[in-house]
Amino acid sequence: MQFDLFDGSRNQILGATVYADFKETLARSNCARCPLSSSRTQIVVDRGNPQAKVLMIGEAPGENEDLQGRAFVGRAGKLLDELMREVGFNTETDGLIINVVKCRPPENRAPAPKEVEACFPFLKKQIELVNPRLILLLGATALKHMVPDKEGSSMKREVGIFFTHAAYPGVELMVLYHPAYLLRDPRKRPLMAEHLARFRERWARGLENGKEAKDGG
Ligand code: URA
Repeated sequence: MQFDLFDGSRNQILGATVYADFKETLARSNCARCPLSSSRTQIVVDRGNPQAKVLMIGEAPGENEDLQGRAFVGRAGKLLDELMREVGFNTETDGLIINVVKCRPPENRAPAPKEVEACFPFLKKQIELVNPRLILLLGATALKHMVPDKEGSSMKREVGIFFTHAAYPGVELMVLYHPAYLLRDPRKRPLMAEHLARFRERWARGLENGKEAKDGG
């Protein structure tokens, strides 16, 4: 029954033609497409600038995000902000930060495949409306679900390297360590700094050419 009731608003969310409408309708939708709806405080759509050309994708909202309704505002988010600031990137204005699922999993566990599947149309719509030039995948969950044909591939192998993928025409992608992982294992920080230096170099060259390539087909 809940699913039937939600269908109308789901169509409205997925039919949005501008990001602000998408965000508002999703945030207010009372979506119940997966069990995470029963334990969440609110739907967490994003944080940052939807006009930006860099999209960062994390795993799922944690406790602070669930309470505040904004992505990456807890300890991991603060570390992300700090690391990005060190390479001259402001996470509020230079990028948009989103998650694979929009509701907090209990005990901050990784989202289950069925939960990701239920939420995926919203994520796809979000990418379509933001139309980024560069996607940074934060951690193994984002890698696994955003690039499923790399499933089974280790973070160790994929992290820090730019690549393209047929599912995201005209977009460059890079996998980065999730900031929560760096909090648990600070020894990985120097490697993250190397990856971010690569990102900074790419970002400094500008992202407009990629847009032309994408618009051109
Ligand atoms: N971790 C995530 O993956 N996303 C958040 O929004 C916060 C912590």
